[in-house]
Amino acid sequence: MITPRSSAVSPSTRPVRKAVVPAAGLGTRFLPATKATPKEMLPVVDKPAIQYVVEEAAAAGLDDVLMVTGRHKRAIEDHFDHAFELEQALAAKGDTVRLDAVRDPARLAAIHHVRQRDPLGLGHAVLCARHHVGQEPFAVLLGDDLIDPRETLLSRMLDVRQRHAGSVVALMEVDPAQIHLYGCAAVRPIGEEGVVGVTGLVEKPSPGDAPSAYAVIGRYVLDPDVFGVLEGTRPGRGGEIQLTDALQELAADGTVHGVVFDGLRYDTGDKADYLRTVVRLACARPDLGPDFAAWLKEFVAGLEGACKSPERRTAA
Ligand code: UTP
Repeated sequence: MITPRSSAVSPSTRPVRKAVVPAAGLGTRFLPATKATPKEMLPVVDKPAIQYVVEEAAAAGLDDVLMVTGRHKRAIEDHFDHAFELEQALAAKGDTVRLDAVRDPARLAAIHHVRQRDPLGLGHAVLCARHHVGQEPFAVLLGDDLIDPRETLLSRMLDVRQRHAGSVVALMEVDPAQIHLYGCAAVRPIGEEGVVGVTGLVEKPSPGDAPSAYAVIGRYVLDPDVFGVLEGTRPGRGGEIQLTDALQELAADGTVHGVVFDGLRYDTGDKADYLRTVVRLACARPDLGPDFAAWLKEFVAGLEGACKSPERRTAA
């Protein structure tokens, strides 16, 4: 008898194909703008923040994207769908540049949606993806967290997952006085440039309790084992089901690695960071950058002048 050779790839060595983008948070830091609009839809120059996130996933080769949405989900769904009337109007005018811009979001990947009924926390949002993801490793990209399009963080994380299996988090060294705003990782060197072993994780520690200055930022590559852990994860910090708490359990088993990132990252859910994001990305745009940067220099010089001689402001 001939034994059939299985072509199935074991779950632990499957390449990552799917991305999950949680976008169901309340966005309270950005009220009132986020009262009726998801914060992930706030424009960064001329695209909503979440489009940069999906572009990043697509650029790293992930062709299946699941959005976890909540209230006001329509705007996100509509953005990644076809807009027939608009497309027809632009086509009739022969405006191919804008027509492409309107069509691009729906062409980035196969986009799916699942609803998180109540914003019970990031861990709960990830658990909502269980049915869609199944037994495959997957990436999580927070919908309001932008990595500059010139960076290659996600590809580096996918490479670490491929070589080490388990789960991978992205770590950024922050001012120790700011670590209470993030999940924080305890790490050990593994003899690899820019990669560490994660031995523990704690959500938003007070500075005295933080095991390091490594903050967990909004990119993850997760083993499907995380779903089983999340099922049993009780509400933690802020009464929310925290992804950090589930990853802490996996880290205790020695299956979590961290990729250290020192590039450009923006939290567009924070007002000041949002403004910095718009300015930086506008300056980098070939169509807008030169004029905008020239105006910005003049504007800043004017601010400096006004600071030096405040009396001029009242005279003007
Ligand atoms: P944040 O903590 O930044 O989102 O979550 P938030 O709760 O909306 O923010 P504020 O503090 O009230 O302004 C990070 C990401 O996780 C998603 C958010 O939409 C954001 O993209 N998230 C958070 C969910 O999808 N569900 C949740 O229950 C919580």
